[in-house]
Amino acid sequence: MSRKIQAPRGTSDVLPEAADARASLEATARRVLEGSGYRRIETPVFEATELFARGVGASTDIVQKEMYTFDDGGGRSVTLRPEGTAPICRAYVEHGMHKLPQPVKLWYLSSFFRQEKPQAGRFRQFWQIGAETIGSDDPAVDAEIIALLATLLAEIDVGGLRLRIGSLGTLEARHAYRERLQAHLHARADELSEDVRSRIGLNPLRAFDSDHPGTQAVMRDAPLLLDHLDAADAEHFATVRELLDRAQIDYEVDPTLVRGLDYYTRTVFEFTSDALGAQSGVAGGGRYDGLVEMLGGPPSPGCGFAAGIERMLLASGGMPVAPPPVDLYVGFESAAQRATAFAVVDEARRARLNAQVELAGRSRKGQLKHADRLGARYVAIVGDDMTILKDMQAGEQRDVAAGEVVARVLRDRGMR
Ligand code: HAM
Repeated sequence: MSRKIQAPRGTSDVLPEAADARASLEATARRVLEGSGYRRIETPVFEATELFARGVGASTDIVQKEMYTFDDGGGRSVTLRPEGTAPICRAYVEHGMHKLPQPVKLWYLSSFFRQEKPQAGRFRQFWQIGAETIGSDDPAVDAEIIALLATLLAEIDVGGLRLRIGSLGTLEARHAYRERLQAHLHARADELSEDVRSRIGLNPLRAFDSDHPGTQAVMRDAPLLLDHLDAADAEHFATVRELLDRAQIDYEVDPTLVRGLDYYTRTVFEFTSDALGAQSGVAGGGRYDGLVEMLGGPPSPGCGFAAGIERMLLASGGMPVAPPPVDLYVGFESAAQRATAFAVVDEARRARLNAQVELAGRSRKGQLKHADRLGARYVAIVGDDMTILKDMQAGEQRDVAAGEVVARVLRDRGMR
């Protein structure tokens, strides 16, 4: 026997039970988002590497060490998408969506790829449901995005939720703040972890995420961006909060909330669930007012969220879903009637019945047992002269011609 081949580390198969739970999650997302005017978008699985280098930010962990990048065979560097916001902004620019009535509201359900260390709830291929609203800087957009995400998570029954929000201000305010923070970190560099110290120049904000005790002590005294917002940013944040308050959405303001992507401006947010372990982030997002412009488009402020499907399912207990009921199971007495059985099941399917046919050469007894296991409502056993049609619920059976099976079932079920 040949050696078994396993799925690559950090990937997982979506087995049928899990696929059903995902389908139901997708239906919920479609109802919530399309009901609010969001339209589905799908972008390619791989993109020019430069899109992420520029859009997500060269100093981020994602771009520095987590991307699956390869040559497309023609000397161009391409990357499996690690996230959806930059590709959607690329599509917005490429298809001239700024000419449509603004804002443009899009949603997606797609797979993403990050070369992270695999652990519970953290995969190298994972799925997200996301929404992006592009073309308006109205704080109502930020509040709507957060509110829709809260509704979605509630409908999916994700337990133990906590919402944290913050504001990063404009890119300029962030740059000025960055220098202030760098000065603070340089002044106490000997107390910091090696990792944080080596990245003061590149990404000082990530020091807030550190679990190193010395770094944490330094960060307790660090200046906070929220205290240095300019008047317009502070007002924007206050309006977002007011709208969330009016909608009775619970949140905590977290002045240290930093997200692992560089495009954010103003509002950022994250939902965590205590039903998850170390990887407690279920969903997150924020505003990205400069991203479309950075990708060559006209100034088009945007805001969005993405929620991890694997994590939502983990935190909601998996949303068990019953498989569709089997209306008719078609078996046969012997191989001589297989073709007739096949014709009957085909006719049943064209009549929109959920129908299955015997595919494993079971005995008649085995066929009935299997049909019962499937919960089939009717079983037809095609014989040489006659077909036995059995109503499994009523326990009644009668002989009919094979060509009449479907009509009988439809009539019995009042579908005709
Ligand atoms: P993100 O926080 O990087 O944001 O990812 C969003 C969600 O995707 C996380 O909260 C988590 O549930 C899930 N996720 C991320 N990485 C993994 C992984 N390795 N394994 C399993 N699940 C994972 C973004 O991706 C932004 N594009 C969100 C956004 C949209 N911002 C604005 N618009």
